[in-house]
Amino acid sequence: MAQEMEVAPMSELTPGTVIGAGRYAVGNANGELFAVTRRCRHLYADLANGRVDKDGCLVCPWHGSKYDVKTGRMVRGPQGIFAKIPGLDAATIALTRVLPLGRGEVTVRGGTVYVK
Ligand code: FES
Repeated sequence: MAQEMEVAPMSELTPGTVIGAGRYAVGNANGELFAVTRRCRHLYADLANGRVDKDGCLVCPWHGSKYDVKTGRMVRGPQGIFAKIPGLDAATIALTRVLPLGRGEVTVRGGTVYVK
């Protein structure tokens, strides 16, 4: 059974915020809390240092891949120089269909956010 971990006071997890907690990047996507495993499927950047965009997707801090935080799947591949590599976008997106980011269970009790 997964061990529950304290993340932060709810007041710190405002919309658009992402915080690292153990193996998870815990965030607030347009008012909905989420937790996904924090290593990007491209080159393993720490997604806890990413941001939530206007679509509620988690954006990787290194090369801008976007993840659907509900499914853990990549919805846009790496950007910049990586966007010019033929097939890379489709390959990394396909990878996360098979191996999406893991998702944690987020709860709020007494004004504090927890994940397991
Ligand atoms: S490490 Fe995340 S997009 Fe490259």
